[in-house]
Amino acid sequence: RMLKKQTQCCLDIDRLNAAFLAIYESLIPPEEEKMKQELFLMSLEKLVNKEWPEARLYLYGSCANSFGVSKSDIDVCLVIEDAEINKSEVLLKLADILQSDNLQNVQALTRARVPIVKLMDPATGISCDICINNVLAVVNTKLLRDYAQIDVRLRQLAFIVKHWAKSRGVNATYQGTLSSYAYVLMCIHFLQQRRPAILPCLQEMRTTYSVTVDDIQCAYFDQVEKLRGFGSRNRETIARLVWAFFNYWAYGHDYANAVISVRTGSILSKHEKEWTRRIGNDRHLICIEDPFEISHDLGRVVDKFSIKVLREEFERAAEILQYDPNPCATLFEPY
Ligand code: CTP
Ligand code: MG
Repeated sequence: RMLKKQTQCCLDIDRLNAAFLAIYESLIPPEEEKMKQELFLMSLEKLVNKEWPEARLYLYGSCANSFGVSKSDIDVCLVIEDAEINKSEVLLKLADILQSDNLQNVQALTRARVPIVKLMDPATGISCDICINNVLAVVNTKLLRDYAQIDVRLRQLAFIVKHWAKSRGVNATYQGTLSSYAYVLMCIHFLQQRRPAILPCLQEMRTTYSVTVDDIQCAYFDQVEKLRGFGSRNRETIARLVWAFFNYWAYGHDYANAVISVRTGSILSKHEKEWTRRIGNDRHLICIEDPFEISHDLGRVVDKFSIKVLREEFERAAEILQYDPNPCATLFEPY
């Protein structure tokens, strides 16, 4: 009877598959949007090069890691090799230049955790944030993009999870919930842990790509075209994976002791990371190790109030997928 019940549940879950795929498809940005962004980036670089001829601009974040939905703002990193520069001065100068070029809503936020200039291009409607020399972000963007090439279920799962997080109001670090970057790492780790595994651990494989940024060596296997089909022995549908993802974070994760680590493709202990005590504002109530800045816990923004909110949302999602007659509507209901 147990077995019958389980099979029944699989069948029910798999019936949701088409609905989840439809949501995923509807969120994918059209090709022309990418083109527009690239063109805009080139014009921006030309402008910047008048003042800093050696400077280069890179896209990072969701517009470049393949986890971006349609009409997102774009994240740009200005790389100036000169070690002498003062970031605030560069940002203010940059804001000046952009303003004189008729870009709109230009604003330099020099005191933010990551200082940026914000702007909007009236010709294309593109809004963007420009930061300076945040090369690690450019590199972790490449890592995420490379993982996305291996199995399409990663992109599908991450789109659904991000869409859920935005709908339910749990995608705001300033409110103590998690960044999109953290959610994507949770998805990668989850797919590394499936049996059979759907994703490998690229950082544990032979190094084919290596850069050193701020004394951190970032090395991994990036010939992902050789890994297509890696997860094909695992036939789980996206609906089943969404269900299992929320079940894991609702009932399976050991919040007291566990750290999820994409870098090692495994679960580490808070103990070995020395993340057992609160240090400053880092409470380590949900622990997600950054793949390159390994002392960095992406869950550190979570406090004793927001951890409750998060866990209740994971439980709500798991319950809905189990029992709700129309889960796709309820799951993404605005909070
Ligand atoms: N990032 C980081 N460390 C963090 C947060 C973000 O390095 N603690 C970098 C990552 O490169 C990430 C980028 O900043 O890809 C943008 O972060 P975020 O806004 O969380 O993600 P997006 O992918 O841009 O998501 P969204 O679609 O919500 O804009
Ligand atoms: Mg972004």
